[in-house]
Amino acid sequence: MTETGTDFRKAAALLEAGKVVAVPTETVYGLAANATDADAVLKIFEAKQRPQFNPLIVHVPETAQAFDYALAVPDAAHRLAAAFWPGPLTLLLPKKNVISDLVTAGSDRVALRVPAHPLFRTLLKQLSFPLAAPSANRSGSISPTRASHVQQSLDGRIPYILDGGESAVGLESTIVGFDAADQPVLYRVGGLSPEAIEAVLGHSISLQHQPAEHPVAPGQLRVHYAPDVPLYLGDLNFLSQQHPSGKTVIICFRNPPVDPIIPHFMLAPEGDLETAAKNLFTALHWANSQAADQILAEPVPETGLGLAINDRLRRASVNYEF
Ligand code: TXA
Ligand code: MG
Repeated sequence: MTETGTDFRKAAALLEAGKVVAVPTETVYGLAANATDADAVLKIFEAKQRPQFNPLIVHVPETAQAFDYALAVPDAAHRLAAAFWPGPLTLLLPKKNVISDLVTAGSDRVALRVPAHPLFRTLLKQLSFPLAAPSANRSGSISPTRASHVQQSLDGRIPYILDGGESAVGLESTIVGFDAADQPVLYRVGGLSPEAIEAVLGHSISLQHQPAEHPVAPGQLRVHYAPDVPLYLGDLNFLSQQHPSGKTVIICFRNPPVDPIIPHFMLAPEGDLETAAKNLFTALHWANSQAADQILAEPVPETGLGLAINDRLRRASVNYEF
């Protein structure tokens, strides 16, 4: 069984020995290894059963260190880093060679992040190398925002889970890259809202799906965030009529379902999207553990963090298509 604890020195010793360790971040838990050691990075892919064409984010404790791994840093990247690091922002920049090709899946760009979680920052400062870390779940399954979620998904496959409590943001980082003219491009909506980014840039930013998010083999990444039973996303009254049989559980935004007897998880009784974001993956893990025949979920308002919440719900749903 995998040990869970709060001993960052133990985590550091394991990482220095080339092992993988699950670490807390403010977005989701990560599965970390030395980003400059290809053998260590390989263990991440093995533990997660992740396809090697999907690259990993590199985590460092300070902005200056992040930019040390980049060949060039556009002005807009400096401004975004100053505004949002440490925090739920990842910047895609042209990489220097010290970063293993396995980390970037052969790409000449590296994804860099300075995380805000205090325990994770303490660990990073203890180490002489950056940490590559994807979310600490089996590839394709629900992201972890608690140590217990990691335990359920990776028990016995990794030596240690560093427990830093519940992730405060609850959604993976927002990923921003730059086009040939150094203009920022949004590659993944996440824990930092597009509006907040636009406010710093002074102009709008458009979403572009990155190649790694597209299925290389048809349907390969469709199962992202997938629970074990079908999740239907839409108007709850309509869905209840469409799927009347079997055991149903519901994930709702701020109001209970019309039939409150149905087991349900309310994402944010006060109706705020920050709370909904923080609870989203816990709600999906809960729904998945109810031995239900189906999960019904409704979208949240499509603004601010709502974009990323709805994106994850769509990817978790059976009707999701690229
Ligand atoms: O909040 C987060 O970003 C969390 C925590 C642990 O930091 N990490 C995370 O990692 O969500 P992961 O591997 O589940 O998602 C990272 C995404 C993937 O879609 C991957 O394709 C993309 O980032 N990515 C990483 N490096 C890239 C690169 N060099 N070029 C293009 N996309 C990259
Ligand atoms: Mg992931």
